[in-house]
Amino acid sequence: MFTLILLGPPGAGKGSQGKSLSETYKIPQVSTGDILRAAVRDKTELGIKAKSYMDKGELVPDSLVVEIVAERLRKNDCHNGFILDGFPRNILQAKAVEKILAGLGKKIHYIINIEVPRKEIIKRLSGRRVCRNCGEGYHLIFNPSVDDKRCDKCKGELYQREDDKEDTIEARLKVYEEQTAPLIDFYRKKGALISIDGVGGFKDITEKIVNAIESR
Ligand code: AP5
Ligand code: MG
Repeated sequence: MFTLILLGPPGAGKGSQGKSLSETYKIPQVSTGDILRAAVRDKTELGIKAKSYMDKGELVPDSLVVEIVAERLRKNDCHNGFILDGFPRNILQAKAVEKILAGLGKKIHYIINIEVPRKEIIKRLSGRRVCRNCGEGYHLIFNPSVDDKRCDKCKGELYQREDDKEDTIEARLKVYEEQTAPLIDFYRKKGALISIDGVGGFKDITEKIVNAIESR
């Protein structure tokens, strides 16, 4: 049983790597971005509140996000561990995670920081496509679907995330630098950070993360 946090800028590959690690270790991937997008799609109270922040590339208020994570981590499937993708995203959320986990009698085992340079991030985000039906992620060049417009798994329609348009990408990168990047130092000082070079093939990066976990 272990708990893992995936840190990294937008487009670093947190979603892609989280999915592989979840399959390898049979523990759920908890992505606040995915939870929020589902809420927006279903027009729930949370989704209605979150949408305007997400469309601008800003962080959704902590009070909303911390509560959904606390609730999600209490579910039975998280009992044997989980992978947090996209949370925490600022110091307040990092402190909230510690508190939530302490309440569950758990702690954080691994913090993986995926490093990818800005130029590569922009290529990745602008070419990303996502299945509207099952959420599977693709990339027009790096991970294309067989049919450009349809998901390989469920034939759902592929779409471009609203926040993957050029202006919003810039806003997200700025928010990352100002609010999320300070977490790198926060965790480094605790001696808990593992940095991984996130440039390369999908499988090679998974292998690097798995090796880092197993050699700790
Ligand atoms: P969120 O969904 O978390 O977005 P993000 O952090 O910006 O990260 P992304 O999902 O864009 O990228 P990723 O690192 O998962 O990369 P991926 O694997 O998809 O958050 C969205 C919004 O929700 C936020 O802006 C905020 O408003 C809100 N939110 C979420 N969490 C919040 C929180 N805790 N607090 C407040 N607000 C919150 O890869 C990207 C692309 O690159 C894909 O197309 C993929 O195929 C490709 N790719 C991946 N790896 C490789 C590789 N090795 N080589 C080539 N291509 C690759
Ligand atoms: Mg993601």
